[in-house]
Amino acid sequence: MSSDSRIPPLAAVLTAAVALLVGCADFERGPVAADAGALPVDGGGGGDGGGAVSFETDVHPLLTTGCQGCHRSGGAAGSTSFLLTGDVEADYAAAVSLTDTSNPSASRLLRKASGAGHGGGAVYGADTPEYQTLLSWISGGAQP
Ligand code: HEC
Repeated sequence: MSSDSRIPPLAAVLTAAVALLVGCADFERGPVAADAGALPVDGGGGGDGGGAVSFETDVHPLLTTGCQGCHRSGGAAGSTSFLLTGDVEADYAAAVSLTDTSNPSASRLLRKASGAGHGGGAVYGADTPEYQTLLSWISGGAQP
């Protein structure tokens, strides 16, 4: 009899445990969703099309927004050899001369962009998606 009388309380405990588990499942969705959200950021560095990084669509916008403010005639870096005009072909020529496809991460463009001995500081640090886009572009042969 005494063991029978324990069954209802056990059932109540089990019900409560199930309710807790359901509650926990909700908590676990949080971190998983956060991880899933981080993935497209990494993948996005390679270009949304999933193909090779394009100078015109992927790289040039990074240079005009992040670099041209100083690297233009009359700008803070106007006396350097790296001058941007906003014209894709001219800017490609200026940028490609600063790349080293045999050792992409040592490229002058990337070293300067990430702040190594750069008067403009770290514009795109090595942990940024923009840096990864530039690196992918150079690794892929720095194509136009
Ligand atoms: C806030 C201003 C500023 C910004 C923004 C800036 N730079 Fe510079 N950059 C300078 C200055 C000043 C120098 C000259 C001193 C030196 O060599 O670091 C320079 C020099 C350079 C050089 C050397 C050029 C030469 O003649 O040898 C490169 C390459 C370069 N920057 C790349 C970049 C890239 C790539 C970006 C954007 C991702 C960028 N810079 C953004 C100010 C800037």
